[in-house]
Amino acid sequence: MKSLFALALLASSSSAIAASIGPEHQLYKRDLATSDPSYPSPWMDPEADGWEDAYAKARAFVSQLTLLEKVNLTTGVGWEGEQCVGQNGAIPRLGLRSLCMHDSPVGVRGSDFNSVFPSGQTAAATFDRILMNRRGYAMGEEAKGKGVTVLLGPVAGPLGRMPEGGRNWEGFSPDPVLTGVGIAETIKGIQDAGTIACAKHFIGNEQEHFRQVGEARGYGFRIAESLSSNIDDKTMHELYLWPFADAVRAGVGSVMCSYQQVNNSYACQNSKLLNDLLKNELGFQGFVMSDWQAQHTGAASAVAGLDMTMPGDTEFNTGRSFWGANLTIGVVNGTVPEYRIDDMAMRIMAAFFKVGKTIDQPPINFDFWTSDTYGPVHWVAKQGYQQINYHVDVQADHGVLIREIAAKGTVLLKNTGVLPLSKPKFVAVIGDDAGPNIRGPNSCSDRGCDDGTLAMAWGSGTANFPYLVTPDAALLAQAVADGSRYESILTNYAPAQTRSLVQQANVTAIVFVNADSGEGYINVDSNEGDRRNLTLWRNGDDLVKNVSSWCSNTIVVIHSTGPVLVTDWYDSPNITAILWAGIPGQESGNSITDVLYGKVNPSGRTPFTWGATRESFGTDVLYTPNNGAGAPQQDFSEGVFIDYRHFDKADAPLIYEFGYGLSYTTFEYSNIQVQKSNPGTYTPTTGTTAAAPTFGNFSTDLNDYVFPSNLQYVYQYIYPYLNTSDARNASQDPHFGQTAAEFLPPNATDSTSQPLLRSSGKSTPGGNRKLYDVMYTITADITNTGSIAGDEVPQLYLSLGGPDDPKVVLRDFDRIRINPGQTSQFRATLTRRDLSNWDTTLQDWVVSEYPKTAYVGSSSRKLDLSVVLA
Ligand SMILES: *[C@@H]1O[C@H](CO)[C@@H](O)[C@H](O)[C@H]1NC(C)=O
Ligand SMILES: *[C@@H]1O[C@H](CO)[C@@H](O)[C@H](O)[C@H]1NC(C)=O
Ligand SMILES: *[C@@H]1O[C@H](CO)[C@@H](O)[C@H](O)[C@H]1NC(C)=O
Ligand SMILES: *[C@@H]1O[C@H](CO)[C@@H](O)[C@H](O)[C@H]1NC(C)=O
Ligand SMILES: *[C@@H]1O[C@H](CO)[C@@H](O)[C@H](O)[C@H]1NC(C)=O
Ligand SMILES: *[C@@H]1O[C@H](CO)[C@@H](O)[C@H](O)[C@H]1NC(C)=O
Ligand SMILES: *[C@@H]1O[C@H](CO)[C@@H](O)[C@H](O)[C@H]1NC(C)=O
Ligand SMILES: *[C@@H]1O[C@H](CO)[C@@H](O)[C@H](O)[C@H]1NC(C)=O
Ligand SMILES: *[C@@H]1O[C@H](CO)[C@@H](O)[C@H](O)[C@H]1NC(C)=O
Ligand SMILES: *[C@@H]1O[C@H](CO)[C@@H](O)[C@H](O)[C@H]1NC(C)=O
Ligand SMILES: *[C@@H]1O[C@H](CO)[C@@H](O)[C@H](O)[C@H]1NC(C)=O
Repeated sequence: MKSLFALALLASSSSAIAASIGPEHQLYKRDLATSDPSYPSPWMDPEADGWEDAYAKARAFVSQLTLLEKVNLTTGVGWEGEQCVGQNGAIPRLGLRSLCMHDSPVGVRGSDFNSVFPSGQTAAATFDRILMNRRGYAMGEEAKGKGVTVLLGPVAGPLGRMPEGGRNWEGFSPDPVLTGVGIAETIKGIQDAGTIACAKHFIGNEQEHFRQVGEARGYGFRIAESLSSNIDDKTMHELYLWPFADAVRAGVGSVMCSYQQVNNSYACQNSKLLNDLLKNELGFQGFVMSDWQAQHTGAASAVAGLDMTMPGDTEFNTGRSFWGANLTIGVVNGTVPEYRIDDMAMRIMAAFFKVGKTIDQPPINFDFWTSDTYGPVHWVAKQGYQQINYHVDVQADHGVLIREIAAKGTVLLKNTGVLPLSKPKFVAVIGDDAGPNIRGPNSCSDRGCDDGTLAMAWGSGTANFPYLVTPDAALLAQAVADGSRYESILTNYAPAQTRSLVQQANVTAIVFVNADSGEGYINVDSNEGDRRNLTLWRNGDDLVKNVSSWCSNTIVVIHSTGPVLVTDWYDSPNITAILWAGIPGQESGNSITDVLYGKVNPSGRTPFTWGATRESFGTDVLYTPNNGAGAPQQDFSEGVFIDYRHFDKADAPLIYEFGYGLSYTTFEYSNIQVQKSNPGTYTPTTGTTAAAPTFGNFSTDLNDYVFPSNLQYVYQYIYPYLNTSDARNASQDPHFGQTAAEFLPPNATDSTSQPLLRSSGKSTPGGNRKLYDVMYTITADITNTGSIAGDEVPQLYLSLGGPDDPKVVLRDFDRIRINPGQTSQFRATLTRRDLSNWDTTLQDWVVSEYPKTAYVGSSSRKLDLSVVLA
């Protein structure tokens, strides 16, 4: 795989300086990575596991629809056109209101009386499937209670290729298995609660820089096209696509295609990604929705597998759409085949019915654009003045769960014995990360600032806090209850006062520090979404160094969106404990107090590696365009070697390894046993699909599609109707008149029966059923050798054995409560997929001939037990 991107790599080193960017540095198109076409776009399978009822209901409904109604389902009404962050057209004739597509993966965005949950990354640190599922369920309930149809989450892209990646916290972990479990459990939770989940961002969306041309202009770079993530087939399958397979297998109703390009083809019109990988190979039955403004073509994106455009306009507030009227015309003139518009409508409605929704959905009771009770329902048009916010309280008792998840996701990185605290005589809390944002927890738009304690990072993946328990508030309350003396200095910038406080006798000093990041449309302290470095913010390192030079009992608590460099101070003897508290959500202070005082015995495990230096990670964000005015090229030339796989391979220096975390008790591992199952040999899928069905009929007379005379035209709103029955004038497409044969790839409109891929399932979302056969069951005994009860997170790793394989890869884990002196059994499985590599020639998963070893232990580097798989 090494030589694949050699040319692009060469160029990236030759044009690192912004000033040198110019057309002369642009690479020849022929030297860039390309994406193979894959057509036609697969249609739904009536027999797909878990989708049969939904398919039948969708077919009954879609069969009644007119072409205009189908187009309405697929096309957003435009940015700020309705109450949610995205909505499609309604079908008033049949009583279906517009569907509400709404953020975020931590809570209902821009609303009120909703909860703010811990980040996906913090949930991952619990290594607890049940908590991940309960978090999803609670978020699904809150979304439903507000009238949200599709919750825009959870996230497996970014996966976390670069620790600086701005949105890594929204997802789970750079390990595909941990992310796969996280995304699947979250999806099941959200959808069991009656809300459609949206697995995003598909795929290769690993950095914020250059994901959008307009955004890049905002920080000083003129590029004609978005970044291209160049990912080889093996890496795609073994790393980035892996968790999406789990999402599809969990029955996810929608997938969001991402902003950037993959192999120089935009993700929302890349047929290899959408038609081939997602719909053919993984057997995805739901609908693909574009990220906001990630669609760049009309008919081409339709045949490449896009099913819904969000928010519907070509760019925000143009009043024009690649779909809408254009899609109506495109179907009538045969550019977009009839089966394709029918399949789009089927996929949307099947996802809708699959989660138990009925046509008479309760109304949307909040408005994203304002917290005013009354206002225009069409925000940008300032039309339709009515009550738009009903201030419905959807929190239930979710605060209890939030507190538990953030406590159980807190990782104890160091403890010389000072923790847990027990009625300490005197607690001194230091740092602005312990206190409030004095302007209020929701004062910065989309949390685009780092003021006060970091309980949520920034961007669209946010929600308004109903309240925020700061560490200071919770620790103060604990101190008062205990009769401890308590003082806090809630700024990093009072060294004299801090020194005189922490030098006093009997002090337990707790220093709170953080590192923030977020989405690329907001710049915080020169961080354009992605972090510009891996150090602590607001002089956090100096603060820790100062306090620990003055006080021999310094505890450090870190809130961050990923690893930070702790190399300079972590081993100071005066630093008696270090905790990573992630991005905890609204109960932050209570959660950390529970851990510090031992009400929760810590058992979180770090879901990423803490490298010793920035360079030790081996990958970094591309901060400067490397292809002149063309699409910046980000070559994933490290292959599957990110995070711990890289550290193991390169023997790069690290401080805390993936999967590491301490407890207040101790555990011993023994007695590994392996049991082989006999699920039979792998059977490649054969056969073909049925031909594409169509549902209903449509008129080819354009007069039937012009605006109804009684319609009240809303400013900038996107409709399925035409202004005139003259197609060219109605479309205003500058290239109007080209036929499908002239500008669409071969087979793009083919509706005949198609061969099934050998790796794909016969009606089994997630891929070939045999991939999920259990091949081995591994057990081990774990004894709590300490004096208090605690949870242990045993982890199963596998060595695939080949010369190009990582040393070990995580394959299973559990979180088990064990009482002192007791022994519990850890039981883990290895499926055929777990044991396989992706064979690029065969285009299938294959178990190699190399000897395989399974390891059980408490982190990726503490693997006490091992067994060779026979
Ligand atoms: C990208 O290009 C590489 C190298 O040719 C290839 O292995 C991979 O399948 C391509 N991926 C996509 C999505 O086109
Ligand atoms: C399409 O959606 C719009 C907005 O919800 C609605 O006003 C219109 O009636 C719908 N058109 C059809 C044909 O259902
Ligand atoms: C149709 O799409 C083209 C771009 O392909 C766009 O320029 C035009 O404005 C669209 N027409 C309508 C009616 O939205
Ligand atoms: C408090 O500090 C004094 C002076 O160092 C020491 O004698 C005493 O033992 C300390 N008490 C506790 C509870 O740490
Ligand atoms: C790293 O970035 C943070 C946040 O912008 C900033 O506070 C800090 O000074 C930077 N560190 C270095 C060493 O430049
Ligand atoms: C650390 O202490 C030095 C010396 O007192 C002071 O100049 C500096 O501002 C302090 N920095 C922080 C962040 O506390
Ligand atoms: C540890 O703290 C003491 C004050 O209690 C100080 O004298 C000493 O220099 C500190 N040591 C380090 C390594 O910072
Ligand atoms: C579509 O089919 C229905 C039911 O057979 C029929 O009433 C209607 O006229 C047809 N419409 C068109 C446009 O062909
Ligand atoms: C269609 O007509 C409306 C109302 O007159 C106008 O605002 C809009 O710009 C027109 N759209 C096109 C594509 O001409
Ligand atoms: C068909 O309609 C689409 C969408 O407006 C347009 O892009 C295309 O040029 C049209 N083709 C013909 C042959 O009219
Ligand atoms: C188009 O489909 C036919 C069979 O349906 C196949 O033989 C041919 O290779 C396809 N062409 C392309 C370019 O994919």
